[in-house]
Amino acid sequence: MVDPDFVQQDFQRRLKMISPQGMGLSVDVYSPDLFELVKKLRERGLQPAYLEVFKATTAALTAVRQAMPDIALAYHGEGLWITQPDVQESPFFQQDVGEMVTQLNCIQSQWLNHECAMKQMAGYSFGTYIPPLYTPLSAEVVADNIATVQQMIDQQGRRADGTAPLFLLELPPLTYFAAGTIPIPHFFRLVTGLAPCGLVLDIGHLWTVYRYTAACRRISLEQFVREFLHDFPLERVVEIHVAGLACHEPVGEPERGPGPPEWIDAHAAPIPSILFTMLEQVLDHPSLVSLRAVALEVDTKPIDLIVEEYAEAVRRFSLLVQQTMSRGRAVEQSTGLTPRPASGQEPMGQSDRQQLRDDYARYAQIISGQAPITGPEWQEVAAEATGLTRYRTSYLPHEILHWGGGLTEMFPQTCRALAERGICLTEFVSFWFRSPRPLTHSYDFFLLKIERFLEFVTERAPDARLCAEQESDMLRLAYAQANEVAEPLLEMGQTR
Ligand SMILES: [Fe+2]
Repeated sequence: MVDPDFVQQDFQRRLKMISPQGMGLSVDVYSPDLFELVKKLRERGLQPAYLEVFKATTAALTAVRQAMPDIALAYHGEGLWITQPDVQESPFFQQDVGEMVTQLNCIQSQWLNHECAMKQMAGYSFGTYIPPLYTPLSAEVVADNIATVQQMIDQQGRRADGTAPLFLLELPPLTYFAAGTIPIPHFFRLVTGLAPCGLVLDIGHLWTVYRYTAACRRISLEQFVREFLHDFPLERVVEIHVAGLACHEPVGEPERGPGPPEWIDAHAAPIPSILFTMLEQVLDHPSLVSLRAVALEVDTKPIDLIVEEYAEAVRRFSLLVQQTMSRGRAVEQSTGLTPRPASGQEPMGQSDRQQLRDDYARYAQIISGQAPITGPEWQEVAAEATGLTRYRTSYLPHEILHWGGGLTEMFPQTCRALAERGICLTEFVSFWFRSPRPLTHSYDFFLLKIERFLEFVTERAPDARLCAEQESDMLRLAYAQANEVAEPLLEMGQTR
């Protein structure tokens, strides 16, 4: 059995090595232009205390590190589906973790932040984050996977001060639904009882938890936040994120009824003021004792809007953030921790992992509309099925047809040929989810889309195969070139 005190001490030992950062930005290397953004901020007299950069090519991250030696960098990982019972058996697991550690080393990050979410499960692929099953077994698997990744970071991580970056698990967003048998705060308490990880509390994601669970029909937002923070392991929160929210494009602004709007996570969109009110409530909480950083997550957002929002956030919160961070440091000094070795878990039983594999296969089939909504973890979703229906019938088809590249723009000639044959592109959505598929490479939605579309055309319109192949080749070439071209540009202080 894992001793929770031992795990907590292990976390504390790791936390002590992380220096306080303050207020910063979570960004993407490519969009918007990172150097232009920093320049514009400096013109306004603003200097982010740190930049958390999203996974990119190692060469691009190295270029950023070299071009900005005076700004601390942290790392936002992607593509490591630690929610999944079979992730460690994936042929790409070692390679993916290895690449992540290389990138952590190259920017000298103090942590690896990763969403507690996935874009692939049981052989099915998606374009945007899906929350885990909120069950005790699922929490155990997440903790076990995190412990394995942390051990690999401990072995391969190379920070100049000799410490290893800490795994931070982020509260994921809900997109209209959540499935599970236990409340979300309890799930995270189970994980942190088993693994010495820190947490990232994303305020916008927290808003979607209120909006897409029964809470918004039961209590006020303020009361929800109070109850959530009471049960959530807030003492493990190392970083806070604040990002934009917006209605999904094809759905548009719904007619405003008495309830809150149907916003979802949207980094390009403005940050609604309600999130700053929630942030205040979080920062005031006495259990927030491990905080090291607060970032506005601004990838894909227009630069002028970022500068305005960051200036406002600094004006309003920098003092409070500093006070919260020093309050936590004072608690740590007084606890007098003794160094302990890294905690590890007993290996999980295969039958538990198999059970969860089956649960995730059903999850993928339910949300893609291939299976009815059944099972204990789906009871609450079934009772209020409008959220899942919206996901199945509007959000998911849009994701497959448009996310990461619209099919009609990617394959203009092939799409015309399909239309002439009376084949509707929505059939591609059913084709995509028809059966599970073995993974052929590390997660890349763009490349996956090309591969699947080629298969679809081969089956439905074999005489258009050649045309689709030619368009695929051009897309793959352009994609590879875009990645290569970005690197020398970054080295010159410019982005794409
Ligand atoms: Fe976030």
